[in-house]
Amino acid sequence: MLFIADSIKQIYTSFEADLLDVSNEDQAESLKIAYLGRKGQVRQLFDTLASMSPEEKKQYGGAINDLKNKLQDALQNKLNQLQEDKSKQEKLSFYDYSLPGRPFPIGHQHPLSLIGQQLYDTFRSLNFTVVDGNEIEDDYHNFEALNIPKWHPARKMQDSFYITENMLLRTHTSTVQVRAMEKMKPPLRIVSINGRCYRRDASDATHYPVFHQIEGLYIDEGLSMADLSGLLVEMMYGVFGREVEIRFLPSYFPFVEPGAETLISCPFCRKKGCQVCQQSGWIELGGSGMVHPQVLRNVNIDPAKYSGFAFGWGVDRLAMLKYGIEDIRMLMDNHIHFLEQF
Ligand code: PHE
Repeated sequence: MLFIADSIKQIYTSFEADLLDVSNEDQAESLKIAYLGRKGQVRQLFDTLASMSPEEKKQYGGAINDLKNKLQDALQNKLNQLQEDKSKQEKLSFYDYSLPGRPFPIGHQHPLSLIGQQLYDTFRSLNFTVVDGNEIEDDYHNFEALNIPKWHPARKMQDSFYITENMLLRTHTSTVQVRAMEKMKPPLRIVSINGRCYRRDASDATHYPVFHQIEGLYIDEGLSMADLSGLLVEMMYGVFGREVEIRFLPSYFPFVEPGAETLISCPFCRKKGCQVCQQSGWIELGGSGMVHPQVLRNVNIDPAKYSGFAFGWGVDRLAMLKYGIEDIRMLMDNHIHFLEQF
């Protein structure tokens, strides 16, 4: 019965060769049918046992059974491997590492922050100390120390939101002048950028009850309006990136003398007259002036020795000018489509 032993070997060799060609589950199934199915090669071998003696049956039956088990194991291994390859493949096609990364939304800087950053850079380069004040202030720092006593009509222009009779939301950032001079000895150079202020104004395209100011203060010996002018020009150069002129219009603020409204030459038309400056060539940006001697006295600085200047400008206005924003309320509305432009 040597032919059975040969057949077993032969079947195994050809199975191994066939198995190498199997590359998917269907092919594995066909192979299974061809070798292990009801009419498969192994079955046929078993059939030959029928005509054998009991000893032969025992001998070859065992060998054929071994063959069957070997084939079954090999097939199972192949199937496992195919499964594994398949799921790897699926994972690979799910994560295509060659694709560019998904853009991660990182947000945008608010126009006020952008302007704030430019102002910050300018003042740091000029060796100013950047300070912050309190949004909730007492009457003394918001008015009294700035030469605006209770009865003073200038209070009318800056009606606030009161928390108690003595505590209010600050109406301007000039409060930081007082707080800085209380703490620091001259010479001193401070700036407060993007300080939030509150006034009981009805809102329209250019007014809002919440707004932002930049406040600067420089106290030293022998300072004049010329120094103020130079500083403001430098500040505008930082924001608008080209030459601008400064113009002072005499004006009244109880805490400066002389005091002035400050205008810049229109950075868009260079004084020729355009829509932005309403054909005037100039744009008003805030107040400024030489610090009033009484204010210096209030914080124990000798006005005979020191003088200084201060300015307080609207940052919202600057941002609106720089970015062509027509309505101040847009800076507060928090509309994503607006903010995404910056
Ligand atoms: N604090 C003034 C205001 O808000 C502006 C100002 C600041 C004027 C500094 C003069 C000096 O109207």
